[in-house]
Amino acid sequence: MVERIEWQPRVRPLIGAEDIQSKTAELGERITRDYAGRELVLVGVLKGSFLFMADLCRHIRLPLKCDFLGVSSYGDSTRSTGVIRITSDLKRPVVGEDVLVVEDIVDTGLTVSYLLDNLQTRQPASVRVCSLLSKPARRRVEVPIDYLGFEVEDVFVVGYGLDHKGRYRNLDFVGVCEEIE
Ligand code: IMP
Ligand code: MG
Repeated sequence: MVERIEWQPRVRPLIGAEDIQSKTAELGERITRDYAGRELVLVGVLKGSFLFMADLCRHIRLPLKCDFLGVSSYGDSTRSTGVIRITSDLKRPVVGEDVLVVEDIVDTGLTVSYLLDNLQTRQPASVRVCSLLSKPARRRVEVPIDYLGFEVEDVFVVGYGLDHKGRYRNLDFVGVCEEIE
């Protein structure tokens, strides 16, 4: 028999996989109701939102398109530099479209604030924000979160798309990273 190698991530669970799945379904239902009769463009903010976006879009029963924005604000640090850069742009214009930005976490708010300003200049019909997580204690600019999964304390969280130095995105739960020095 081949020995099974177990990987033990040093992550203290905070939000379980089932809670994430039921919240995602609930958000999808709300979005479906709110945008009934319309067509959506989901704009996932890479890379952190990729799992959330994949699950969320399957709970939205509307015609929709998926696009992605690559944004960098962090480097390898756990603190925001406050300098936001678009590293990969949308593949199509969003003029006249209903845009829903899909984020993993709103921390200082600087990224979403920058993205909202940037997207508004492209003349969409509307722009709203859906974020899996929010860390209100660290907010530096107020940003509207139209659809929110969970609030978290001022701790660095990983899993379900969120990383520390590129790792832990593959966890199906969100937890506190115990590897931070
Ligand atoms: P902002 O500070 O609101 O601009 O957040 C920028 C980005 O930092 C988020 O979209 C995340 O990708 C990342 N981030 C913020 N807090 C955390 C965290 O606790 N864990 C992992 N990534 C985070
Ligand atoms: Mg992000």
